[in-house]
Amino acid sequence: MKAPILAPSLLASNFAYLAEAVRQIEASGAEWTHLDVMDGVFVPELTFGAKMVADLRPLSSTVFDVHLMTVNPERLVEGFARAGADYITFHIEAAVHAHRTITAIKDSGKKAGISIVPSTSITAIEEILPFVDLVLVMTVNPGYGGQKLIPQCLEKVKQLVQIREEKGYSFLISVDGGVKIETVSTVRDAGVDVMVAGEAFFRAEDKAAMVLQLKGIAGKI
Ligand code: DX5
Ligand code: ZN
Repeated sequence: MKAPILAPSLLASNFAYLAEAVRQIEASGAEWTHLDVMDGVFVPELTFGAKMVADLRPLSSTVFDVHLMTVNPERLVEGFARAGADYITFHIEAAVHAHRTITAIKDSGKKAGISIVPSTSITAIEEILPFVDLVLVMTVNPGYGGQKLIPQCLEKVKQLVQIREEKGYSFLISVDGGVKIETVSTVRDAGVDVMVAGEAFFRAEDKAAMVLQLKGIAGKI
Protein backbone atom coordinates (compact mmCIF):
# COMPACT_ATOMS: atom_id res chain seq x y z
CA MET A 1 0.00 0.00 0.00
CA LYS A 2 1.21 3.51 -0.84
CA ALA A 3 2.15 5.72 2.13
CA PRO A 4 -0.54 8.34 2.74
CA ILE A 5 0.10 12.04 2.21
CA LEU A 6 0.66 13.97 5.43
CA ALA A 7 -1.09 17.29 5.98
CA PRO A 8 0.12 19.01 9.16
CA SER A 9 -2.50 21.39 10.53
CA LEU A 10 -1.46 24.96 11.30
CA LEU A 11 -4.10 25.05 14.03
CA ALA A 12 -1.63 23.40 16.42
CA SER A 13 1.10 25.94 15.70
CA ASN A 14 1.78 29.19 17.53
CA PHE A 15 -0.24 31.75 15.55
CA ALA A 16 2.28 34.44 16.46
CA TYR A 17 4.73 32.53 14.25
CA LEU A 18 2.57 31.25 11.41
CA ALA A 19 5.17 32.01 8.75
CA GLU A 20 7.70 29.89 10.57
CA ALA A 21 5.14 27.08 10.99
CA VAL A 22 4.44 27.04 7.25
CA ARG A 23 8.15 26.78 6.55
CA GLN A 24 8.55 24.01 9.12
CA ILE A 25 5.87 21.99 7.35
CA GLU A 26 7.60 22.26 4.01
CA ALA A 27 11.03 21.51 5.50
CA SER A 28 9.67 18.38 7.24
CA GLY A 29 8.88 16.69 3.94
CA ALA A 30 5.10 16.79 4.46
CA GLU A 31 3.37 17.28 1.12
CA TRP A 32 0.34 19.31 2.19
CA THR A 33 -0.43 22.16 4.60
CA HIS A 34 -3.86 21.94 6.28
CA LEU A 35 -5.49 25.30 7.03
CA ASP A 36 -8.45 25.24 9.42
CA VAL A 37 -10.89 28.09 8.88
CA MET A 38 -13.34 28.51 11.79
CA ASP A 39 -16.11 31.08 11.88
CA GLY A 40 -17.32 31.03 15.48
CA VAL A 41 -20.74 29.81 14.27
CA PHE A 42 -20.34 26.37 12.72
CA VAL A 43 -17.75 25.74 15.45
CA PRO A 44 -17.22 27.86 18.59
CA GLU A 45 -13.75 29.18 17.77
CA LEU A 46 -12.45 31.63 15.18
CA THR A 47 -9.20 31.25 13.31
CA PHE A 48 -8.41 33.13 10.10
CA GLY A 49 -9.73 34.03 6.68
CA ALA A 50 -8.60 34.28 3.08
CA LYS A 51 -6.14 37.13 3.68
CA MET A 52 -4.09 34.94 5.97
CA VAL A 53 -4.00 32.21 3.35
CA ALA A 54 -2.96 34.71 0.68
CA ASP A 55 -0.19 36.08 2.90
CA LEU A 56 1.15 32.60 3.73
CA ARG A 57 0.86 31.28 0.17
CA PRO A 58 4.20 32.63 -1.17
CA LEU A 59 6.08 31.02 1.72
CA SER A 60 5.39 27.42 0.73
CA SER A 61 5.13 25.22 -2.31
CA THR A 62 3.14 22.55 -0.47
CA VAL A 63 -0.48 21.90 -1.43
CA PHE A 64 -2.75 24.26 0.53
CA ASP A 65 -5.62 22.21 1.92
CA VAL A 66 -8.25 24.64 3.20
CA HIS A 67 -10.83 23.14 5.58
CA LEU A 68 -13.82 25.44 5.95
CA MET A 69 -15.61 24.90 9.26
CA THR A 70 -18.08 27.64 8.50
CA VAL A 71 -21.70 28.27 7.69
CA ASN A 72 -22.46 29.55 4.18
CA PRO A 73 -19.29 28.09 2.65
CA GLU A 74 -20.46 29.17 -0.83
CA ARG A 75 -19.75 32.80 0.12
CA LEU A 76 -16.11 32.03 0.82
CA VAL A 77 -15.16 30.05 -2.28
CA GLU A 78 -14.07 32.96 -4.42
CA GLY A 79 -11.91 34.55 -1.73
CA PHE A 80 -10.06 31.38 -0.82
CA ALA A 81 -9.61 30.44 -4.47
CA ARG A 82 -8.03 33.82 -5.11
CA ALA A 83 -5.90 33.45 -1.98
CA GLY A 84 -4.21 30.40 -3.48
CA ALA A 85 -5.93 27.44 -1.88
CA ASP A 86 -5.46 24.20 -3.83
CA TYR A 87 -8.22 22.21 -2.16
CA ILE A 88 -11.30 23.88 -0.70
CA THR A 89 -13.28 21.56 1.56
CA PHE A 90 -16.57 22.43 3.22
CA HIS A 91 -19.02 20.59 5.47
CA ILE A 92 -22.14 18.90 4.18
CA GLU A 93 -23.78 19.85 7.51
CA ALA A 94 -23.36 23.53 6.57
CA ALA A 95 -24.57 23.31 2.98
CA VAL A 96 -27.97 22.94 1.35
CA HIS A 97 -26.79 23.28 -2.24
CA ALA A 98 -23.59 21.30 -1.90
CA HIS A 99 -23.46 20.42 -5.57
CA ARG A 100 -23.60 24.11 -6.52
CA THR A 101 -20.76 24.91 -4.14
CA ILE A 102 -18.66 22.03 -5.47
CA THR A 103 -19.25 23.32 -8.99
CA ALA A 104 -18.22 26.84 -7.94
CA ILE A 105 -14.98 25.54 -6.42
CA LYS A 106 -14.16 23.59 -9.58
CA ASP A 107 -15.09 26.52 -11.82
CA SER A 108 -12.55 28.60 -9.89
CA GLY A 109 -9.90 26.07 -10.91
CA LYS A 110 -9.58 24.44 -7.50
CA LYS A 111 -10.16 20.95 -6.15
CA ALA A 112 -13.37 20.47 -4.21
CA GLY A 113 -13.69 18.56 -0.97
CA ILE A 114 -16.66 17.59 1.18
CA SER A 115 -16.39 16.86 4.90
CA ILE A 116 -18.56 14.97 7.39
CA VAL A 117 -18.57 15.26 11.19
CA PRO A 118 -18.61 12.09 13.32
CA SER A 119 -22.43 11.99 13.56
CA THR A 120 -22.97 12.21 9.78
CA SER A 121 -23.10 9.03 7.76
CA ILE A 122 -21.82 8.42 4.25
CA THR A 123 -25.37 8.38 2.89
CA ALA A 124 -25.49 12.17 3.37
CA ILE A 125 -22.82 12.65 0.71
CA GLU A 126 -23.52 9.69 -1.55
CA GLU A 127 -25.13 11.76 -4.32
CA ILE A 128 -22.19 14.13 -4.63
CA LEU A 129 -19.37 11.60 -4.47
CA PRO A 130 -19.03 11.52 -8.28
CA PHE A 131 -18.27 15.26 -8.26
CA VAL A 132 -15.76 15.67 -5.43
CA ASP A 133 -11.96 15.48 -5.44
CA LEU A 134 -11.66 14.81 -1.71
CA VAL A 135 -13.74 13.45 1.14
CA LEU A 136 -12.60 14.62 4.57
CA VAL A 137 -13.78 12.25 7.29
CA MET A 138 -13.63 13.97 10.66
CA THR A 139 -12.50 11.60 13.39
CA VAL A 140 -13.19 14.18 16.12
CA ASN A 141 -15.93 16.76 16.47
CA PRO A 142 -14.55 19.79 14.64
CA GLY A 143 -13.53 22.91 16.50
CA TYR A 144 -10.41 22.07 18.45
CA GLY A 145 -7.08 20.37 18.02
CA GLY A 146 -5.70 17.78 20.40
CA GLN A 147 -8.86 15.68 20.78
CA LYS A 148 -9.13 11.90 20.92
CA LEU A 149 -9.78 10.03 17.70
CA ILE A 150 -13.20 8.33 17.58
CA PRO A 151 -12.30 4.91 16.13
CA GLN A 152 -15.83 4.18 14.86
CA CYS A 153 -15.42 6.96 12.28
CA LEU A 154 -12.80 4.87 10.51
CA GLU A 155 -15.58 2.52 9.39
CA LYS A 156 -16.68 5.34 7.10
CA VAL A 157 -13.25 5.39 5.51
CA LYS A 158 -13.59 1.69 4.76
CA GLN A 159 -17.06 2.27 3.27
CA LEU A 160 -15.70 5.06 1.09
CA VAL A 161 -12.86 2.88 -0.17
CA GLN A 162 -15.43 0.29 -1.17
CA ILE A 163 -17.83 2.73 -2.85
CA ARG A 164 -14.97 4.35 -4.76
CA GLU A 165 -13.84 0.98 -6.03
CA GLU A 166 -17.33 -0.20 -6.97
CA LYS A 167 -18.34 2.98 -8.78
CA GLY A 168 -14.99 3.92 -10.24
CA TYR A 169 -14.82 7.32 -8.51
CA SER A 170 -11.52 9.09 -8.03
CA PHE A 171 -11.76 11.21 -4.84
CA LEU A 172 -9.05 11.12 -2.19
CA ILE A 173 -10.00 10.10 1.32
CA SER A 174 -8.64 12.22 4.15
CA VAL A 175 -8.91 11.81 7.92
CA ASP A 176 -8.82 14.70 10.37
CA GLY A 177 -8.58 14.62 14.16
CA GLY A 178 -6.57 12.69 16.72
CA VAL A 179 -4.05 11.25 14.28
CA LYS A 180 -0.88 10.47 16.27
CA ILE A 181 1.65 7.71 16.80
CA GLU A 182 -0.76 5.72 19.01
CA THR A 183 -3.64 5.79 16.49
CA VAL A 184 -2.00 6.14 13.11
CA SER A 185 -1.70 2.47 12.17
CA THR A 186 -5.49 2.00 12.45
CA VAL A 187 -5.94 5.11 10.29
CA ARG A 188 -3.55 3.85 7.62
CA ASP A 189 -5.09 0.38 7.71
CA ALA A 190 -8.53 1.84 7.00
CA GLY A 191 -7.18 2.90 3.60
CA VAL A 192 -6.75 6.69 3.79
CA ASP A 193 -4.92 8.74 1.15
CA VAL A 194 -4.33 11.84 3.29
CA MET A 195 -3.87 12.24 7.04
CA VAL A 196 -4.19 15.57 8.84
CA ALA A 197 -2.08 15.89 11.99
CA GLY A 198 -1.97 18.93 14.25
CA GLU A 199 -0.55 18.31 17.69
CA ALA A 200 1.35 15.17 16.70
CA PHE A 201 3.31 17.25 14.19
CA PHE A 202 3.82 20.52 16.06
CA ARG A 203 4.70 18.87 19.39
CA ALA A 204 7.38 16.73 17.76
CA GLU A 205 10.97 17.83 18.30
CA ASP A 206 12.08 16.18 15.07
CA LYS A 207 9.30 16.97 12.62
CA ALA A 208 10.85 15.20 9.64
CA ALA A 209 11.14 12.00 11.70
CA MET A 210 7.52 12.39 12.83
CA VAL A 211 6.36 12.71 9.22
CA LEU A 212 8.09 9.44 8.31
CA GLN A 213 6.68 7.70 11.37
CA LEU A 214 3.13 8.85 10.73
CA LYS A 215 3.37 7.85 7.09
CA GLY A 216 4.64 4.45 8.21
CA ILE A 217 7.88 4.67 6.25
CA ALA A 218 10.36 5.41 9.07
CA GLY A 219 13.47 3.33 8.55
CA LYS A 220 12.33 2.31 5.06
CA ILE A 221 13.98 5.11 3.08
C1 DX5 B 1 -10.24 20.19 14.15
C2 DX5 B 1 -9.44 20.52 12.92
C3 DX5 B 1 -8.24 19.69 12.76
C4 DX5 B 1 -7.23 19.79 13.89
C5 DX5 B 1 -6.63 18.45 14.10
O1 DX5 B 1 -11.46 20.84 14.13
O2 DX5 B 1 -10.22 20.37 11.74
O3 DX5 B 1 -7.62 19.89 11.51
O4 DX5 B 1 -6.23 20.73 13.62
O5 DX5 B 1 -5.82 18.50 15.20
P1 DX5 B 1 -5.20 17.21 15.92
O6 DX5 B 1 -4.39 16.48 14.89
O7 DX5 B 1 -4.38 17.81 17.02
O8 DX5 B 1 -6.36 16.39 16.41
ZN1 ZN C 1 -9.14 20.37 9.77
